[in-house]
Amino acid sequence: MKIVKTKAELQRTLQELKLKIGFVPTMGALHDGHLSLVGESKKRELYTVASIFVNPTQFNDPKDYEKYPIDTDADLDELSSVECDLVFLPSRDEIYSDQNDPKYLHDFDHLERAYEGAYRPGHFRGVGQVVHLLFEAVRPDVAFFGEKDFQQLQVIRALVKKMEADIEIVGLPTVREDDGLAMSSRNRRLNPAQREQSVMLYRSLKLAKERHGKESVPAIKAHVEQLFEQAPELRLEYFDIIDPERFESLDSVDACAHPHAVIAAYAGEVRLIDNMALA
Ligand code: PAF
Repeated sequence: MKIVKTKAELQRTLQELKLKIGFVPTMGALHDGHLSLVGESKKRELYTVASIFVNPTQFNDPKDYEKYPIDTDADLDELSSVECDLVFLPSRDEIYSDQNDPKYLHDFDHLERAYEGAYRPGHFRGVGQVVHLLFEAVRPDVAFFGEKDFQQLQVIRALVKKMEADIEIVGLPTVREDDGLAMSSRNRRLNPAQREQSVMLYRSLKLAKERHGKESVPAIKAHVEQLFEQAPELRLEYFDIIDPERFESLDSVDACAHPHAVIAAYAGEVRLIDNMALA
């Protein structure tokens, strides 16, 4: 597995190879969810590039950025174990030499202000900015993202349209722990009681999936709030049933062919998110 730290070396290497490129952008702290993205790229016989870059511009809370777990050696071992071909490990200066160029600061309109965007102002601007810069550096044919960050996936699809880039965006199913908790780099910050109760996010989504069509949206929301009363370590931030294209709340699931449930909750200082298609 090749490790490259500059855009110049990256482009030289990739141009010489003349192969179709599959790209998995990450912020490190890798888990099986990330490895499944690399696995899918390899399965499609793409020359697979992963990047590890903890992007400062997408953290609306500087404390979150400071606490972000970094263990590059462990990440490289994980990537090597799934036969990733190349890892791009840029420094902050390498990525942000053009930081103030407005070309990279996209307005995703309602999509960047709803749900996650409302609770994390500026987050999706930062994601769009860094992914645009990474796409320009790597020039992938296909890029892989986890559906766990469902709103981010929609932002990336919008980004590719804005860039008019010929990049296929593939979203892959959330990888879960045995009890259903969505894998996330943040899970390692949960204490045992928080970890045990954090399964409530998945249970809420399952409840919504089982009951949609049989119960009204307000009744489902009330059940979810009741579930969270049994989890004193957690604080529900939002649960909603939405139209996944428009990211708008649905009063009734009949109003949309593919309703989607989204949820966010705090366990102590750790913010957890999850989502599920209901039909
Ligand atoms: O999902 C992530 O890990 C990040 O938001 C991404 C896409 C790598 C951009 O920094």
